[in-house]
Amino acid sequence: MGKGKRVGIVGAGNVGSTAAFILAMNGSCHEIILRDNKVDIAKGKALDMSQAAAAARSHTIVSVAEEPNQLVDCDVVVVTAGSPRLPGMSRDDLLLTNARITREVVRDIKTYSPNAIIIMVSNPLDAMTYVALKESGFERHRILGMAGILDSSRMAYFIQEKLGYGAGQIRASVMGGHGDDMVPLPRYSTVAGVPLNDLLTDEEIDEIVERTKHGGAEIVNYLKTGSAYYAPGKSAVIMVEAILKDTKQIYPCAVYLDGEYGYSDVVSGVPVSIGADGAEEIINISLNACERKMFKKSVESVRQLIDTLEKHNFFGEK
Ligand code: LAC
Repeated sequence: MGKGKRVGIVGAGNVGSTAAFILAMNGSCHEIILRDNKVDIAKGKALDMSQAAAAARSHTIVSVAEEPNQLVDCDVVVVTAGSPRLPGMSRDDLLLTNARITREVVRDIKTYSPNAIIIMVSNPLDAMTYVALKESGFERHRILGMAGILDSSRMAYFIQEKLGYGAGQIRASVMGGHGDDMVPLPRYSTVAGVPLNDLLTDEEIDEIVERTKHGGAEIVNYLKTGSAYYAPGKSAVIMVEAILKDTKQIYPCAVYLDGEYGYSDVVSGVPVSIGADGAEEIINISLNACERKMFKKSVESVRQLIDTLEKHNFFGEK
């Protein structure tokens, strides 16, 4: 019998457990291992999901790693662990706190699942993907960040809502970092192959672009005590499945740039072909002057976060 695929999920909060649940229902892998410092929460959720898998006649097993060394030999690990912004915490504090959590998690993955491909989900997403790359020492194709699929799904939904038709037929495109200056690309967005410009006015498209940029905040404003998790969970699963099935499909993902689009030593969201080796190919699409300018601004914001980490000597710490 061949070795079954194993997916690790670090952080059994809303996003991590939603991703695990979708994977278990899809029967996408042999085993899912949840890891969370709150071991009992992870255990309760794993039991609940295992029972859902039994109801669904899915062969996927959901278990818990009580210690880091039990998250072993995973093919893919999704990292959702991170602190929410607590009262009195500055953005820099949050950045450093989550960077330290990411470092610890990634070191354990390197030790116990040395062949894994890592999908980062923790925020600030692009900076955490950079930290994961630097701390793991893995080749860059093995570290991907999830944001572009989420942001483009939000844009697709807003297009459908505006049009009143086209659900399931919309391909929206968003590049750049997962922040207020992400780069939605209406020029590369279509409804059943029809360019957006043929369906909506410039003003309508601008509204969709703005709403997409603040799509995460819109949900936080409703939920009050948390942020989105269904679309983030599903988006992470799309990446996991593309890796497990070696589909080589193109999705926007956060990856380390090494000259692509004119940038190096930074992470940003770009179209990537995903397969068994992770980010197998970075696709260079042509941007016009305005899009290039927006992408530059987005890359610079991520660069600033990395500079902040450097200023605090994060990469020199043990
Ligand atoms: C979002 C945040 C939480 O986009 O990253 O939902």
